[in-house]
This record gives sequence, C-alpha cells and structure tokens, in this order.
Amino acid sequence: MLSIDFKNCLNFINNQELSLAVKQAKKSDEVLLSGQGEGSEFLGWLNISKIIGRENLAKLYSISKKLIKINDVVIVIGIGGSYLGARAVIEALQHKNNRIKKYPEILFAGNNVNENYLRDILEKIKNKNFSLIVISKSGTTLEPAIAFRILRRKLELKYGKRNASERIIAITDSQKGVLKQIAEKNSYETLNIPEDIGGRYSVLTNAGLLPVSVAGCDIGKLLDGSAEMQKNIDNSGKNNIVYLYASLRNLLYKKGKVIEILAAYEPSLFYFTEWWKQLYGESEGKDGKGIFPANATFTTDLHSLGQLIQEGKRNIFETVLIKEKSENKLKIPFDKENLDKLNYLGGEEIKNINRKAFLGTVKAHTEGGVPNIIIKIPELTEKYIGQLIYFFERACAISCYMLGVNPFNQPGVEAYKKNMYKLLGK
Ligand code: PA5
Repeated sequence: MLSIDFKNCLNFINNQELSLAVKQAKKSDEVLLSGQGEGSEFLGWLNISKIIGRENLAKLYSISKKLIKINDVVIVIGIGGSYLGARAVIEALQHKNNRIKKYPEILFAGNNVNENYLRDILEKIKNKNFSLIVISKSGTTLEPAIAFRILRRKLELKYGKRNASERIIAITDSQKGVLKQIAEKNSYETLNIPEDIGGRYSVLTNAGLLPVSVAGCDIGKLLDGSAEMQKNIDNSGKNNIVYLYASLRNLLYKKGKVIEILAAYEPSLFYFTEWWKQLYGESEGKDGKGIFPANATFTTDLHSLGQLIQEGKRNIFETVLIKEKSENKLKIPFDKENLDKLNYLGGEEIKNINRKAFLGTVKAHTEGGVPNIIIKIPELTEKYIGQLIYFFERACAISCYMLGVNPFNQPGVEAYKKNMYKLLGK
C-alpha cells in the first residue's frame, strides 16, 4: 500500500492543527459520499466497482485485442481529461511494456493546435498500419476535432472509407455530441464515457482504460489497485492517507504556501504529474482560491527550479513521489584511470544514487523553508499506479470541499474558447 511520510512538515504545522484539519477532511469526505456537496451529479468515479461493468469490460478487451493485432501504431486523440490519464499510466509503466514488441506504439494527437506536431505524426505513420482512438466526452472540443478530421482523412486515403471506419474507435457521451453523430453515421465502434464522470476523473473509464490496455498494461490490476485504495479509505476511519494529504496541503495553503510542486524522481512519472496538475488545477482553481499545482522531475529540475525552490519566495511546498523498489539494476563501472574521479561510486547502483539525491534534497528544501510531503510507492506496477490514481482523485474532491469550491466544474475554461471562436468566426 502507498504510504505518506509527513515528518518534514512538522516544523511548519503543529499536531493540534493537524488533528483538527483531519476532522475537517473527514467531514468533507462525508459530504462527498452523501452526494450532498456541490457538483454531486459527477460522482460516478467514487465507487470503483461500479465504474465499468463486466459487459463493458468484455467489449473493451475485444476491441483492444483487435487493435493490438492489426496495428503498428495507435493514435489516441484527445485533450485534458480525455488524454492525460491514459498517457500518465502508459508512460509510468513503459519500463515494462516498451520491451514487448507485440504491442503497438501509442501516439497522442489532438492535445494542442500545432502544425509541426501533427506533421511529425503524419510522418511517423507513413508505411505503418495504424488506427485511431478518438476521445471526447462533449464531442465538440476543437483540438481533438481538428486532429481527428486530418487523421481520419489520412486513414480513409490509406484503407478506403469502409475499411477505415473499422479502424476508428470513438469514446464519447452515450447520447449527445458531434462525435457521437459522426460515429453513428459511419458505423464506428463506440465506447461510452459515463454521464456522471467528468473528464479529469475519467482515467478509470473507457477513456483511459482502452488506450492503456492497447499499450499492454493490465487494466484488471489497475482497477484492483484503485479498489484497494478505496477500501482502505472507506475502512480506516479518520486514520487514512487521503485525509492526511488533504489536511496537510490545506493547512500549508492557509499558512501562505500557495504553490504545490509534485516532484517525482522517475522521468516516467512526468505525465502522471501532468495528470495530477490538471486534476488539481481545474478542480481547485476557482472563486479566487486554489493552490497552484506545478510539477517537476528530479534530479533534472534541481538544475532549473532548484535555486528557486531553495531560496526563492517562501510560498512553496512539495509533494514528492518516491518508489521503494527498482525494476532495473545498473551499476557504475570502475575505471582504472579514474580521470573523472568517480571511482568513489564504482560498483554503486544508479538507484542508490537517486535515493541519496532524494534524501539530500528533502533535507535541503525542508531546512530552506519548503515543507515536504513524501508519498512512498512500493513499486511502479499497475496495482500501485491504480492506488495512486484513486488516492489523488479522492483527496482532490475532499480538498476542494475543504476549500469551499465545487471539485467538478470548470467554468473558467470557457473564457478563452469564447474569444477564440469569435476570432475564428464560428
Ligand atoms: O476535465 C475536464 O473536464 C476537461 O479537461 C476535459 O476533459 C477536456 O476539456 C476535454 O473535453 P472533452 O472530453 O469534452 O473533449
């Protein structure tokens, strides 16, 4: 099970404050579970066993099997919550699946409006067998719609309209939206995103699970891990890591720590931190409130953000993801000449050096006025990624209620769209 070490926050928070905040977190969770809180029409993600029915899972597996069999490349088209969850899981587990050649390469499109990016994808799929998974709950989002039109054309030119339609899977609302209409008209295979689950909470629905399955990840284990975390929270009274995390970040925010950096010592968790950034940013940032969610990969970003974290404005706290067990062994060789003076590390495993970097950084940052919440991940497997997903989703909804905002809407996202559509003459 995941665990939290919060001793590096205790210089900033006292025990009394913490136990009061944990009580508030529990109350907020009760509001969430009772369905009486704001946005309660979007609670479909709360109960893991109900997210995806057996029948649906069978359909998903059969589509996934076919996509794996016929493709070199599968392009996942989507943006925001309809993209980040899938990419987060796929990249976090790439150390396992990338070596297995039988799975298609997964590319992502429709998550920006950029001609060079799309050109690169078109270049990459030349002479490759490919299919499209297009994901949009609303079915109207501009970025994926543009990418879908371009890539659909490419697919139809390569395979003919009828065969192309067998290579397109649309994941969208079961009733409405343009994507639903296009899919019906062209007889594309479709999978639903449940009405009561918003984009950023949708990674454990078809939206996340189909791409993740095509990439070779075990979605059964992913769901089991999430269910374990749910059970742990539901059965542990007020002593659970979700209340603890929500309480710590809420207290730190009240003390002026308005920026949270989610830092990982694994480059493969970069997209996981991107997923988290969207989940917390879009859920909390409203009504003039919200912790600014930033992400970092260490040690890489210690050479870019490190200075600011250590000595800049003291308005930051860090949540650090660290894994306990390593997948690969790699040692630093001895060198007879030792011109680089690295022989003091000769024979040492890279993972041990990463560990020391982590320990040294936590100490330096905490002493420099940056509280650290450490989240320990036993290993990077489906099970623990599933636990992490549910942990952060539940903690996010609780944090929002503690802050007094609706976790499930995003009214501010419309402002740029309105201006852009006006300029585009829509
Ligand atoms: O979390 C959200 O609701 C958003 O990030 C959406 O997922 C994103 O805007 C994409 O929307 P859609 O799936 O409707 O294309």
